Amino acid sequence: MSKVIIAQQIPDIAEILLKKAGHEVIVLSKEAPLSMDEFKKKIAGADALLTDVDNVVDGLVMDAAGPSLKIIANFAVGYDKIDLEAAEKRNIVVTNTPGALAEAVAEHVIALMMAVSKQLIEADEFVRSGKFKHWQPMGFLAPHLWGKTIGIVGLGRIGSFVAQICFYGFKMDVIYNDVKRDERFEMELKAQYHELPILLKKADIISLNVPLLPSTRHLINANTLKLMKKTSILINTARGPVVDESALVTALKNKQIAGAGLDVFEHEPELVTGLDKLKNVVLTPHIASATVEARTDMAEIAAKNIIAVLAGKPALSPVVAKKA
Ligand code: GLV
Repeated sequence: MSKVIIAQQIPDIAEILLKKAGHEVIVLSKEAPLSMDEFKKKIAGADALLTDVDNVVDGLVMDAAGPSLKIIANFAVGYDKIDLEAAEKRNIVVTNTPGALAEAVAEHVIALMMAVSKQLIEADEFVRSGKFKHWQPMGFLAPHLWGKTIGIVGLGRIGSFVAQICFYGFKMDVIYNDVKRDERFEMELKAQYHELPILLKKADIISLNVPLLPSTRHLINANTLKLMKKTSILINTARGPVVDESALVTALKNKQIAGAGLDVFEHEPELVTGLDKLKNVVLTPHIASATVEARTDMAEIAAKNIIAVLAGKPALSPVVAKKA
């Protein structure tokens, strides 16, 4: 029987599958995640760790688990909090959950885009606080979204779903940037590839869908914000540090861009000073993948990765595979 530690409660399917495979399962927290010190103490002797976007998993954490640790199954597609080199050095497999959450995150991009553009939060507050006294022909005016240009930064599964919703649902023009071109995508959605500065100049809505890498940290900064249209809306459901959040606050304050929808934050869960005071932003607490379907699939994929690796088989979705 191997010991599997799940950092925070996730859908039951993971525990069910792991127990069925004969493993001992310990869920460390049903509410807030443990402190780093407590976490390190509790994982001693684990064969597998199932961690999430709140867990920094560096070499010290791996050593706290000890030599029994064979796999770190990340309950997310983004694995920027896991030290891959440290895992490779210790021959620990690292897996993620690709494919499980693309639809969910794409839907959230659209939700944020609509909420920012339609000023939904302000409008809701307007009604609740009793300010709705009469119909206002000039109240809450904003450009419509139909036929505008969506700029996809990072054309993975999520970016591709966002583009499809915008193309088929809103008749938008699609432009995109990525490290590589995708000719099939270009043909299907009549999409145009642009270098980032051109994309930022042309797009009405910009959706960030890149992983956090040294090359994407602060991709959106004071200089790149200056390239965007005054009417543009920035949506970030990727990772907080892709945006220089202080520079974004300044740009939003100065009405250099029209608005932003953020599900992730540079110093998550903290916000940089001033962000929460701005009316032209909509903020959500890293919930883009929070559909029942996505989170259930993520739990299942993570559990199946653990079951495979503990049985000496290759992982289903390895980020770091086992060395022979
Ligand atoms: C969530 O943020 C993920 O990376 O899956």
